[in-house]
Amino acid sequence: MKFFIDSADTAAIADLAATGMVDGVTTNPSLVAKSGRDFKELISEICTLTKGPVSAEVTALDAKAMLSEADQLLPIADNVCIKVPLTWDGLKATRALADNGHKVNVTLCFSANQALLAAKAGAAYISPFVGRLDDISADGMGLIADIRQIYDNYPDLETEILVASVRSPEHIRQSALIGADVATLPPEVLRSLIAHPLTDKGLEAFLADWQKTGQSIT
Ligand code: E4P
Repeated sequence: MKFFIDSADTAAIADLAATGMVDGVTTNPSLVAKSGRDFKELISEICTLTKGPVSAEVTALDAKAMLSEADQLLPIADNVCIKVPLTWDGLKATRALADNGHKVNVTLCFSANQALLAAKAGAAYISPFVGRLDDISADGMGLIADIRQIYDNYPDLETEILVASVRSPEHIRQSALIGADVATLPPEVLRSLIAHPLTDKGLEAFLADWQKTGQSIT
């Protein structure tokens, strides 16, 4: 399972990239706004922090204008992945970009049928937003399971399931059990995956006992 970082915070991305756990990065207009940075400069810097795909989202609403924006974003780096919204125009742009050999991340997916459409349009990734579904008392992880089953029913569909809007380690555990291909995690969720009180307690006890031996390994 691949881990992407869902952030436009370059310091956090660089810090986590050093762990070897980062396979790519996703951004969105809200994260870019929060960073206060110039969009193209930001994407360019993020592309140096990972060899994996870096999602840069278009903001135009019609397919032709989306493709013009993609023309501006793609030359930034070889690992730029164009992110488009799940609309008919987004799907048209996806088909055009995919036919030209570009990776597209189709975002704002909230239903299995939307995921099927994105796959038929040639998306490299579909981004179902599990947290936002949970927020309205719907079943975010149920959607991931449905999409997994549908894509597995049709092996010709090569789209990867990119679990988005992740809120907690439990989303990651369930995504991995279902067999999602990728999850994009806020930095704090990735950091929290390692936490277990028995690890801390066990380490503390081992170190206390080791001190009693009076030995040093080096
Ligand atoms: C995905 O690519 C989106 O950037 C992101 O996961 C949205 O998450 P949110 O619902 O926490 O804003």
